[in-house]
Amino acid sequence: MIYILEKIVVRGGVRLSGEVTVSGAKNAAVAIIPAAILVDGECIIENVPDIRDVQVIVEILEHLGAKVEFVDRHTLKIDSSKVDKQTAPYEMVRKMRASYYLLGALLGRFKKADVALPGGCNFGLRPIDQHLKGFSALGSENTVESGIVRVSAEKLEGASIYLDVVSVGATINIMLVATLAHGTTIIENVAKEPHIVDVANFLNSMGANIKGAGTDVIKINGVERLKGGFYSIIPDQIEAGTFMVAAAATGGDVLVKNVIPKHMESVSAKLEEIGAEVIEYDDSIRVIGNGNLKKVNIKTLPYPGFPTDMQPQIVTLLSICKGTSIVTEGVWESRFQYVGELLRLGANIRVDSQTATVNGVEKLKGAPVTATDLRGGAGMVIAGLIAEGETEISDIKHIDRGYEKMEEKFRQLGADIRRVTCPE
Ligand code: EPZ
Repeated sequence: MIYILEKIVVRGGVRLSGEVTVSGAKNAAVAIIPAAILVDGECIIENVPDIRDVQVIVEILEHLGAKVEFVDRHTLKIDSSKVDKQTAPYEMVRKMRASYYLLGALLGRFKKADVALPGGCNFGLRPIDQHLKGFSALGSENTVESGIVRVSAEKLEGASIYLDVVSVGATINIMLVATLAHGTTIIENVAKEPHIVDVANFLNSMGANIKGAGTDVIKINGVERLKGGFYSIIPDQIEAGTFMVAAAATGGDVLVKNVIPKHMESVSAKLEEIGAEVIEYDDSIRVIGNGNLKKVNIKTLPYPGFPTDMQPQIVTLLSICKGTSIVTEGVWESRFQYVGELLRLGANIRVDSQTATVNGVEKLKGAPVTATDLRGGAGMVIAGLIAEGETEISDIKHIDRGYEKMEEKFRQLGADIRRVTCPE
């Protein structure tokens, strides 16, 4: 059997220039689409990114009995009124982390769900204890056996929940269950990422009553049903940041369009500290890299701190900045797998547990590398754009999970980048 493998091949040395438009936010879409299960009617969702994770979650919704139609490449029409299954297929669910939102949506609408433990990027343990803590506070009986999470509740009653860990997934999942529960739910110590606010806004546009998303406390007054409606997803903060870092790293001049500058504040501030020029407009940001970039220290933190999902991209940039940068991963227990691939390109980086010490080098030299995970893959593309010669990136399925037509967008900015298929 011959397998056809896809790779991305980049020839470095081009200063990126021109305009690029950001797609809808992946981490909002993979929560909002399952959230549509709560809606007993039809919802129209615009600005959906054309990425693999969306295709997977759409397939799962169809399997559950929802009627899903792509009105166009970026607009989904979902009617969950006929959903008649509460078991998500193991082989589909294991393909992506965000499958855990099916638990919250099915429990919230049908008071029961069977969903396989989530797959997703390998940053060490990816527990869901805070999700389950919230579910049981709302009245659910939870069991985990042979890789399947089973939740069920006689009735769902509002409760006060204090998260031990600031968790994006737990915050959203508990919000999903509380939306149709009886009474009021208060969730404290919640995550405040833009996509949390987006999910709350989506639910409210369908008839929910959620206040405080984006602050430390979210208050949900349960309602009888969600009637359906129309919503447009926010731009992807991490895709925007990826192009901003690539512009600075290549000494380019790029206008990143369809962004919400407020969501980019920590990334913009760091790029200015490094020495790039960042100019904000209403819904776009221009980044100009001027060559003499210098070291900075960074700690990744929950929003509004520097995003962990921008860590591989910024470390790649820092690998060619003068001086020694210290980058501390403050969210995941181990998110430096991609550094081994940067070392193949001549980077000088040492990692011990949560901290990377990045000694800037003159230049990187192209070589074959692997995408270790979604954002590690984005880091490899940036590395290829700045390395001398050719860099071949394999395992790019990780990249396709979360970036829409990444190499096409970079080609529009002048990059010498192409996708090739080769028999394995
Ligand atoms: C979401 O993952 C994102 N994924 C991740 O983005 C992102 O890195 C992460 O949030 C942090 O911003 C999606 O939205 C689909 P968490 P999630 O729950 O929800 C611990 C990408 O690149 N924790 O906020 O799984 C956990 O171990 C992906 O787009 C518990 O201890 O992350 C971690 O250390 C990669 N118990 C920390 O909290 C729990 O029950 C943050 O995790 C849940 C989490």
